[in-house]
Amino acid sequence: MIRKSVSSNSTGSEVSQPDSLSLCEAGGLLGASTTEREENDVKIGVPTEVKTDEHRVALTPAGARELTDRGHDVVVQRGAGAGSGFADHDYVSQGATVAPDAASVFAEAELIVKVKEPQPPEVALLRPGHVLFAYLHLAPDPQLTRGLLESGATCVAFETVEDARGRLPLLAPMSEVAGKIAAQAGAFMLAKPLGGRGVLLGGVPGVPPGKVIVIGGGVVGTNAATVALGLGADVTILDRSLDRLRELDALFAGRCRTVFASALTLEELLPAADLVIGAVLVTGARAPHVIKRDHLAAMKPGALIVDVSIDQGGCVETSRPTTHSEPTYDVDGVTHYCVANMPGALPITSTRALANATLPYLLRLADEGVGRALATDPRFLAGLNVAGGRVTYEPVAHAQGLECADPAAALEGAVAPMPGS
Ligand SMILES: NC(=O)c1ccc[n+]([C@@H]2O[C@H](COP(=O)([O-])OP(=O)(O)OC[C@H]3O[C@@H](n4cnc5c(N)ncnc54)[C@H](O)[C@@H]3O)[C@@H](O)[C@H]2O)c1
Repeated sequence: MIRKSVSSNSTGSEVSQPDSLSLCEAGGLLGASTTEREENDVKIGVPTEVKTDEHRVALTPAGARELTDRGHDVVVQRGAGAGSGFADHDYVSQGATVAPDAASVFAEAELIVKVKEPQPPEVALLRPGHVLFAYLHLAPDPQLTRGLLESGATCVAFETVEDARGRLPLLAPMSEVAGKIAAQAGAFMLAKPLGGRGVLLGGVPGVPPGKVIVIGGGVVGTNAATVALGLGADVTILDRSLDRLRELDALFAGRCRTVFASALTLEELLPAADLVIGAVLVTGARAPHVIKRDHLAAMKPGALIVDVSIDQGGCVETSRPTTHSEPTYDVDGVTHYCVANMPGALPITSTRALANATLPYLLRLADEGVGRALATDPRFLAGLNVAGGRVTYEPVAHAQGLECADPAAALEGAVAPMPGS
């Protein structure tokens, strides 16, 4: 049970502030009349991201303000926002408290909001009664799946939450970022000193541009193509959805080619490619291997594959996850770039873009409790991957040969997820 001062500002809207802050520190609430409100609300914990080269944070100070205004408590790990340009006092001034380490955050909070999938030390801190809201990418990761099942926590994956049109609103902003990075990084890595072919993607008058193939014309693919076209490259997009190819054709108005993705068309296109961007997704499932090892022999020496789908296991048979510190490796003369947290390198943009999308869902989890928030919205329920020690998302269960539990039933059986559930 937490007590907070709640004031009305000059516009009549409520502004909540922790007791320790002065009116001045809280933004100058001159003339406000203060009433006391007692709340039985949720404590939201925001740990510092620990995945290699990850600088995003799951909550901005603006998000902390929205939560504390509603009477919830927010605890942020010391320094969690630093990589994204937010100091501890930026959170404190919006009503959050700061904890010294991850163990304190996990011990204090019921609802843990993170960016990347929990790393082994974080999995060890999860317990029954915790709700975890983060990217999980479980299909290619049996070890993490096992850890989450054993933790007893209720785990909602950003990447499988759907909107009313079946799109993926919490994956989309990072796909927008990753798509743009894919083309930028690809252009950069094609430089000879970096092991590339030595091709300038845009070409120059009298010398043709480099050829870019984008496999998968969804959010990543569209953004990658936009940047590659902006650089002046010769771009072809492949997809298996005719409807999507029609949309892309209209969007790019003839500035790039669209091709139905078959094994044969891909084999015909690969030998000419300087840069291949892998961006396929079958929602929640392990990515299909659209490029096999045999294909590499037909590609140009020094050609580059950016496998953005690596977070779902990779759409290239020879892909394995890399980091921003060591982003590439070579197989059969073809450079592979397979960074699984591409937006993590551009946190000032990425954190804000991610938080814009996740905050409305986080507010619902906190206000309604995970049980009610998910039970009343099948699109939000699609985000539930693990509950009560069971996998509740079919593509994950399928990828790992596990039985898939009914999500609503598993949620009901989960250990007292949160107040209000
Ligand atoms: N590495 C990173 O840091 C990072 C960041 C963001 C997103 N991603 C990943 O990028 C991938 C793409 O995400 P998205 O948001 O663009 O997904 P999306 O659903 O918007 O698009 C995927 C597209 O792939 C197409 N597709 C499916 N199977 C195909 C196949 N066999 N051949 C050709 N096309 C096929 C679909 O029709 C769809 O148009 C996902 O795995 C996502 O998790 C990675």
